[in-house]
Amino acid sequence: MSLQSPFISTAKPFLRALRGETIIPPPLWLMRQAGRYLPEYRQVRARVHSFLELCYSPELAAEVTLQPIRRYGFDAAILFSDILVVPDALGQPVTFHEGRGPTLERLKNKADVTRLSLEKFISSLAPVYKTVQFLAQTLSPTVALIGFAGAPWTVAAYMIEGGGSKDFAHAKLWSLGQGPMEQLMELLTEATIRHLLAQIAAGAEAVQVFDSWAGVLPENEFLQFVVNPTKKIVERIHKTYPTIPIIAFPRGAGIQYKIFVKETGVQAVSLDSSVPLMWAAKYLQPYATIQGNLDPIALFAGGNNMLKRVQRIIDVLSHGPFVFNLGHGIVPETPLEHVAELVKYIRLCGVR
Ligand code: CP3
Repeated sequence: MSLQSPFISTAKPFLRALRGETIIPPPLWLMRQAGRYLPEYRQVRARVHSFLELCYSPELAAEVTLQPIRRYGFDAAILFSDILVVPDALGQPVTFHEGRGPTLERLKNKADVTRLSLEKFISSLAPVYKTVQFLAQTLSPTVALIGFAGAPWTVAAYMIEGGGSKDFAHAKLWSLGQGPMEQLMELLTEATIRHLLAQIAAGAEAVQVFDSWAGVLPENEFLQFVVNPTKKIVERIHKTYPTIPIIAFPRGAGIQYKIFVKETGVQAVSLDSSVPLMWAAKYLQPYATIQGNLDPIALFAGGNNMLKRVQRIIDVLSHGPFVFNLGHGIVPETPLEHVAELVKYIRLCGVR
């Protein structure tokens, strides 16, 4: 069965850019645009006991999704949730500690993986889809709604390590055969597909797949655990929703961004700040919309130095399909005025 999302609108500049149009000034949103740098977010966050409670409360999650849109008028809203709701819903509970990041009881062996189950997966995540539904009905006609998931490799890495890690040594050992990696990746690829399809069915107009730790893998494992699962995800989503744009963020992939774009068939690729702009314009932009890639620390720094870097990104990338964004998530200490300054500058570009 092939379904058209009933929510697609060509009036939205962000979606037009994802479909290959060159748009000046470029559409704009920022990774982690909802979060601790916003006082209105901290206020809502203080009303709940845990971060996950916020993710699973449709009204509050929708409210914090909309906060950055109200304040800055971004072209896209990204669902407020987290990539780690997937292990949580598969039966590996996740907790978030203030200032310490997420923790999970780490997967140690095949029995631990076998215990995970897709049975209650979609029903556990029902509040997330309710949030999407609510947002799809609420957003203004020019603002697009982005759904998302973590890529299987990055989510597996947190599940195997039991949280963040300096070197992801355990996860890499599994990728080298010292753990039931194939079984885990198969489960996570299926879970990711179902999670994204449910968000699209609820009204997400584009989806982003975050592979934050793609860059720690050598060539062979990069192809096996980053490129291949992403390719499967793209194929399965397009089987049901052929026109839904898919953005991928294989952070730290370096020159492997090129083979990633060629092999996966994604419509857009989000660049981390280390990717040279001219190289991206030449080798990636003919095949996919580019999203990125201002260093979040340049945004934190602000001033002319930031604006010079913004201008260079626009100069090099706005001759083709392009969405302005950061190279990674906004840092919580970022001054509000710097974000306002960035938005104002980009809105005026092309009229200069
Ligand atoms: O505004 C948005 O971008 C939408 C919401 C969103 C969050 N996390 C909210 C969040 C998105 C898209 C994510 C993705 C995410 N989560 C990634 C991929 C992108 C990346 O940053 O590389 C990863 C690796 C995670 C896992 C995660 N979630 C970590 C490591 C942490 C702790 C670090 C931190 O910043 O505190 C989180 C917590 C988290 N996710 C917060 C927010 C707003 C902060 C928690 C809080 O408010 O108490």
